Amino acid sequence: MKRRLYSGSDYRRAQTIEELEGMARRRLPHFAFQYIFGGAEDEVSVAWNRKIFQTLRLLPNTLVDTSKRSLSVPLLGADISMPLIVAPTGFNGLSWPGGDVALAKAAAAAGIPFSLSTFSTSLIEDVAKAGGRLWFQLYILRNREIVKNLLERAAASGFEALVVTTDANVASGREWDKRSYRSPGKLTPRAWLETLLHPHWISQILQNGMPQIANVVNFIPPEQRSTARRTVFIQSQVQRDIHWDDIRQLRDQWKGKLLVKGILTPEDAQRALELGVDGIVLTNHGGRQLETCVSPMEVLPGIVREFGGKMTVIVDSGFRRGTDVVKGMALGADAVMIGRASLFGVAAAGEPGASHALGILRNEIDRCLGMLGRRSFAEVDDKILFRG
Ligand SMILES: Cc1cc2nc3c(=O)[nH]c(=O)nc-3n(C[C@H](O)[C@H](O)[C@H](O)COP(=O)(O)O)c2cc1C
Repeated sequence: MKRRLYSGSDYRRAQTIEELEGMARRRLPHFAFQYIFGGAEDEVSVAWNRKIFQTLRLLPNTLVDTSKRSLSVPLLGADISMPLIVAPTGFNGLSWPGGDVALAKAAAAAGIPFSLSTFSTSLIEDVAKAGGRLWFQLYILRNREIVKNLLERAAASGFEALVVTTDANVASGREWDKRSYRSPGKLTPRAWLETLLHPHWISQILQNGMPQIANVVNFIPPEQRSTARRTVFIQSQVQRDIHWDDIRQLRDQWKGKLLVKGILTPEDAQRALELGVDGIVLTNHGGRQLETCVSPMEVLPGIVREFGGKMTVIVDSGFRRGTDVVKGMALGADAVMIGRASLFGVAAAGEPGASHALGILRNEIDRCLGMLGRRSFAEVDDKILFRG
């Protein structure tokens, strides 16, 4: 029998990330929901990112006093309250007005880092006011003046880490996007009509004007700032011929912690280590880039075996449940990034919705640790996974 999920509009009654996803689906116009939800081509990687967790079964110890538990873990020199980081996601302002600030505040309140995308719709300086541990995600752009400006402002605003994304230098096959838009930035008549059926979303989102790629917009020539021409500008700015020398340069330029997001092989991890990066994020971009790409969970144990302890290893893609997070930690990750899980929360109900999503995950992680007979992540390793 199919599980019946909560289908109302009170985010506090959502028991799971999946229920927040349903609320986001109902609140957003189709094109905006699909932007969050969708993956590349047939979405095989999206599905595999979820299925991999079902192939891993947990093996608990019993009669352990787990009445006092702590979820905190050390990450890049300071403890975080649970092993989660909010991943960088572009255009959060489509999900909620000031979506980046809402997510940053929810992350700060939860005691975990928030990552701000190059293509965020809030200013670096406004997000800094949210407090907490902040990371800035960089897409390497052709105009190095923009890059320099972004890095200087992030450093001046107290962002502790730079996350350089390396797996999106080729535009991916997001076919749903092509169905929503007749040309870059121009919705099809059907998508427009469907959007008009969401007047509440329209009035909410437009109260601050159309969401802009806030930190880059000043570099766009004024005559190219219409939604359509802006999209073409952004696409033309993402540098296609990125190279390890770019990481070398960024290592010289950025004095804070440096992470490379997009690594999946030991060779690439080795090169990153040699260039002095502080950490890597194993990811397939939530199944949005290379279709049928391996799940990062599959390569995690091998990479941890070689590089664990030498640099920070973070994993993402497909994490929706506390048990998923515990499995990632059991395979040796230092922490887990979540993209859609917290985005569904903010898209459902703004900052309280994002906080609710993080609260759901915290409860699930805590429950899982206790039932496994573990009091903290110091006691979690691959012995909690059944090997047959
Ligand atoms: C709507 C959306 C926008 C994203 N934008 C960015 C981005 O601007 N920069 C980036 O490095 N990754 C981006 N990502 C990828 C996320 O950082 C992360 O790797 C991915 O969402 C993890 O998978 P999950 O959504 O299954 O948790 C985006 C993902 C989504 C869903």
